[in-house]
Amino acid sequence: MFAHIEAFPGDPILSLNESFQQDPRTNKVNLSIGIYFDDDGRLPVMEAVAKAEASLLADMGPRPYLPMSGLVAYRNAVQALVFGEDSPARAEGRVATLQTLGGSGALRVGADFLKRYYPEAQVWISDPSWENHRVVFERAGFTVNTYPYYDEATGGLKFDAMMDALRVIPKRSIVLLHACCHNPTGVDLDKDQWRRLIALLKANELLPFVDMAYQGFGAGLEDDAFAVRELVAQGVPFLVANSFSKNFSLYGERCGGLSVVCNNATEAANVLGQLTGAVRANYSNPPTHGARVVAKVLTTPELRTLWESELAAMCARIARMREAIHHNLRDHVSGEALSRYLTQRGMFTYTGLSADQAERLREEHGVYLLRSGRMCVAGLNERNVPVVAKAIAAVLAR
Ligand code: LMR
Repeated sequence: MFAHIEAFPGDPILSLNESFQQDPRTNKVNLSIGIYFDDDGRLPVMEAVAKAEASLLADMGPRPYLPMSGLVAYRNAVQALVFGEDSPARAEGRVATLQTLGGSGALRVGADFLKRYYPEAQVWISDPSWENHRVVFERAGFTVNTYPYYDEATGGLKFDAMMDALRVIPKRSIVLLHACCHNPTGVDLDKDQWRRLIALLKANELLPFVDMAYQGFGAGLEDDAFAVRELVAQGVPFLVANSFSKNFSLYGERCGGLSVVCNNATEAANVLGQLTGAVRANYSNPPTHGARVVAKVLTTPELRTLWESELAAMCARIARMREAIHHNLRDHVSGEALSRYLTQRGMFTYTGLSADQAERLREEHGVYLLRSGRMCVAGLNERNVPVVAKAIAAVLAR
């Protein structure tokens, strides 16, 4: 019955992370997966999360099924964070928001929904993009194309080429955008570029699907959501997937959200209904624990303040690690190949190292980067920075 099933080739991120776990070397360094580690190399439990959990545990009670669309308090908290407390779209009731299984779950539920209602559309993702974007949309039945994005020569953005490409794609194409902390390059649009891009999306009737997995890791919680706020301001209908994996350090709880901004409340109710139906057909309803924790933190003023300060401290540590790796590499790397460690932002830097060099870093030095050359700078710490810099220097030397 199953003899015809071929072996799974593995996932470029998660399988590498599993190889790292199995690597017996004690000096190994994990800069592959997008996970924030603290300066001791440990996955942190945020204090705001621990406090919320302690108070929830004291009052746990029975656990019935959640509604198919998720916990109401969580969905409201997602909306307030993603769109802003005073968002006109929220006030007008034209945002349909669903609790999802992480950001990936939001992308997949959104992709299935779009395939059903835009069966002829194709999807456009940045070149490069998070590896799983292509997988999710192809599995949902879409043809996935790329638009120019990263400029290897400058370590920056090919904004004009991106605009030129998007100007000529068919109406009602789906355009996948990263709200902030672009994965894998760490290169984002500035506010003026967002305004111009969004005007183009609107004029050409393109359908944006925004992935916001790193809110709070770029320029702060509000500024990182600039694209979302600007899409609302310019009156563009769109989808946005958000995640609390990174900014709450709640990876395994699968806390995400999918929001669809519609033209009016009737449309939003219909969209939410169809999304709810899709959830029922997939996994019935989402889990309780993580959603309760996130909602508690976001809606309890002192926990919210604590969470924001912990998140700010994570960002400050990442910035210090960017400076440290930049400093340690200065004798081995020059020009833009060096400055990109400071200019690219969020958890990732696109090092420009080749797949072969990344392979040698792993095999010869126990330093794990993605084959694309993406480095998770949030995996650096005071102790491993010199080790990583030395390994990169060794690989570059021959
Ligand atoms: C990453 O890009 O490394 C993270 O978002 C983890 C994942 O699921 O790929």
